[in-house]
Amino acid sequence: MKPYALNKCLEILTGYLEYPNYSLESRLHNRDEKPFIPQNTYSEILKDLRGIIRWLNKIQFVTKKTLRTLNLASITSLQWSELYYCVYSMHWKQIPRHYLRKEFDDLHTTFPDRIIPAWNALLLQFLEKLTHFSWEIALKNKPLSEKISIYQAVPSFFVERLIPVMSEVKIEANAKAMNPFKDQNFIALRIVLDEGHDEKWVTETRDKYIQYLHKKGIKTKIDSDIPFLIHIPMNQRKQISNSQLYKSNQIIFQDKSAVIACLIVDPQPLELILDVTAAPGMKTSLIQELTHYQSVIIGGDIHRKRLKETEKLMSQLKTKNVHLIQWDGSKLPLRTEGKSKQQIFDKILLDAPCTGSGTFLKDPEMKWQQNKHILLKNRIIQEKILKQLKKYIQEGTTLIYTTCSLYPEEGEYQINRLINKPWFKEMMPQPLIKGISPAYSINKLLTALITSQEKNIIGLGRIFPAKQHTQGFFYAKFTRCLVSPHE
Ligand SMILES: C[S@@+](CC[C@H](N)C(=O)[O-])C[C@H]1O[C@@H](n2cnc3c(N)ncnc32)[C@H](O)[C@@H]1O
Repeated sequence: MKPYALNKCLEILTGYLEYPNYSLESRLHNRDEKPFIPQNTYSEILKDLRGIIRWLNKIQFVTKKTLRTLNLASITSLQWSELYYCVYSMHWKQIPRHYLRKEFDDLHTTFPDRIIPAWNALLLQFLEKLTHFSWEIALKNKPLSEKISIYQAVPSFFVERLIPVMSEVKIEANAKAMNPFKDQNFIALRIVLDEGHDEKWVTETRDKYIQYLHKKGIKTKIDSDIPFLIHIPMNQRKQISNSQLYKSNQIIFQDKSAVIACLIVDPQPLELILDVTAAPGMKTSLIQELTHYQSVIIGGDIHRKRLKETEKLMSQLKTKNVHLIQWDGSKLPLRTEGKSKQQIFDKILLDAPCTGSGTFLKDPEMKWQQNKHILLKNRIIQEKILKQLKKYIQEGTTLIYTTCSLYPEEGEYQINRLINKPWFKEMMPQPLIKGISPAYSINKLLTALITSQEKNIIGLGRIFPAKQHTQGFFYAKFTRCLVSPHE
């Protein structure tokens, strides 16, 4: 990295280490910054910062082990940043030691006030020691769960939460699948469906778009289940964002897990659908496209800014029949009086706020936001909204509850809590779609409910980064029926 970029990178990393609640991108996107950071430098800094944050606990582990042999009193946040940058550069980017030394020499020439002779001497010793680091020795005698946490760079909290529902081998596989692997990761692009689309339109449009992408040197893979999804290598994302096809809103990025959620909603023309937490509107728009814009969605979100983004997306994609309201989903401002026996909504989608523990591939910063307080906060919001929805669920209404989390607390446990409530006795589990894995088997009642139809996953299901190569997602689908299925 050039001195200016390196200085900026270290400055942002230091800020993040001191106060991680503020995202890397927003730190880098400081509009008051003068001179403005050129686009190439911006991308280079962001790429390295995201790389360091993705592997943070692993980098910290290597750093601390290496420092053990050096005599140190105390280290400032800026100095930690320099060490982390060196570890990342040498071990992840395979940058040779002499090259890294030169980067720091240039940095000091450009920013002489950064020079602290004693620290610089230590940095050189550190680089020397770093070349001898051995994983075999460092991880020797550590329990498997700790090894997974360090080696796959996930918080130990993540591993601990999954141990009751998954083998350690599967936990490791899922954590690994949420880290990039030798530039071989793909991301999904959704073809925006035309109002009058049919199977032929989808196939022809897809083939046309694929040809266009190939001409631009972008590799593609057709999704094996969903005809309007195309997968492209993650490292070609920028080329897509710059393409005319993307700029004219004919394709958008959307993970397969989110598309599956919409297919599980199975929206039909003329249905009235409540989308409780709609922003930024990715699922809202697809639901409307699937019904040829003939369903009606009442959607909302608590965050004004995100709701504005939703309005913008609806306008860009020309999505019709969507009515957006800013609301708190746990206190919905929709009246129900006088209609207690009458069906109000055909479908209710709660794509709930959650820890995002299934989304580390896309959003590495999420890793270090995982802790028991965040989980509790999200569980409480989910519970409050689900409780509120009760009064909108009439005979025939289908509730679809989804989260992009791998934790059972935000999936199976939420449904399990509802199953014991009198009103939920009339909720009948519904078939999900092909290719979904069973939900975690947390107790007999839930297991009996979800496996009551041979091989067909009904009621509750999951998809996993290691199995379906998507974000980790939980799905639940229940319809209220007059006769209780559990009696
Ligand atoms: C998982 S995201 C929804 C994604 C959206 N369905 C989509 O596909 O684009 C969860 C959303 O819940 C919103 N949210 C959080 N707490 C809420 C509340 N109490 N009431 C309404 N929305 C809330 C967040 O602002 C966030 O936009």
